Amino acid sequence: MKPLNLFEYETQAKKHLSQMAWDYYVSGAGDEITLRKNRTAFEDFQLRPRMLVDVSQRDLSTQILGKSQELPILIAPMAFQCLANPAGEIATAKAATEMGIIMVLSTMATKSIEEVAAVKQAGNQWFQLYVHRDRVATPSEYRGLTKSLVERAYHNGFQALCLTVDAPLIGRRERDARNQFVLPPGMGLANFATWNDLKITQKAGESGLFAYFAEQLDPGLTWADVEWLRSLSPLPLVIKGILRGDDALRAVEHGADGIIVSNHGGRQLDGAIATINALGEIVTAAGGQAEVLMDGGIRRGTDILKALALGAKAVLVGRPILWGLAVAGSQGVQHIIELLRDELDLAMALTGCTTLQDIHPSLIQS
Ligand SMILES: Cc1cc2nc3c(=O)[nH]c(=O)nc-3n(C[C@H](O)[C@H](O)[C@H](O)COP(=O)(O)O)c2cc1C
Repeated sequence: MKPLNLFEYETQAKKHLSQMAWDYYVSGAGDEITLRKNRTAFEDFQLRPRMLVDVSQRDLSTQILGKSQELPILIAPMAFQCLANPAGEIATAKAATEMGIIMVLSTMATKSIEEVAAVKQAGNQWFQLYVHRDRVATPSEYRGLTKSLVERAYHNGFQALCLTVDAPLIGRRERDARNQFVLPPGMGLANFATWNDLKITQKAGESGLFAYFAEQLDPGLTWADVEWLRSLSPLPLVIKGILRGDDALRAVEHGADGIIVSNHGGRQLDGAIATINALGEIVTAAGGQAEVLMDGGIRRGTDILKALALGAKAVLVGRPILWGLAVAGSQGVQHIIELLRDELDLAMALTGCTTLQDIHPSLIQS
């Protein structure tokens, strides 16, 4: 029997993954307090359903950055998807296309911008950016490597850039350190295939990814760079990893089109606030000047309903996508989205909502 929900996918996925891949996917930073809190915080919000509303027709479609979308659900950027399935990000992109939703491709993908774009040229794809340090082997202009990634994304039909700002260094995930995380032979950073020195190599007593971030990523990124980034292409810019109202305001002031309330799925700062608890303040601060999305712990349709009631325009889903990919490739990812869609649809019917606009703050109480 097919899994009935996202948690059953997680249980099955473990059987399909190596210990190193499972630990890398599932873990959080430090004591995994934030990882757990992202989930449990949803339980503190209770629903206040409205009765005797005609809910015989329901519409889950929305607009994100001015483009129509089938669902208020996006696939979060996640590195190294070939660890779950040989087709990796291509399988994920196919499922996203099938479901009419946005997939955010990671800088650290195991399939390249060009390979993923080929799944659907004019598709619903965004590109997530990690800003690398200036380096000798890349074009010598200021942050040439990042500039070239932006240009490749733009020319390949990606529709927005998503700048991740919560990872000047990578969080310490002890399971990865213990496993001395490294990619298996033949798998690498597909976006940097021509740069021989941009590789994740094994480090004694440490995660190879932790070492890569420390050596290659630029921890000197500031708000001034947001404007620089916007100048590189006409693509809308979404800032991922905001957890405070004042930072949301800064994002707006620096021209962000969207904000993703995220703590990186509990993988960066352990002890950081659960995203559903940070959302309300950020929605208020953004004041409708940037679209606010959120991720972290979305596993049920009612989680999506709660996030939307608190003012999120849409949510991103992380790990469950990898569980679907590990269990049944593209079909598995598609089924994960279908499960969330059907659960959200049911939650809407049971709370008296026929459209996403009906999902109002009065539906929840904390
Ligand atoms: C295995 C894995 C890899 C990730 N890689 C990236 C990445 O490359 N870039 C990024 O911005 N976020 C990355 N994230 C964070 C996700 O985009 C997202 O914020 C998080 O997974 C959402 O929480 P959830 O997994 O509870 O749904 C990664 C998350 C996981 C689990």
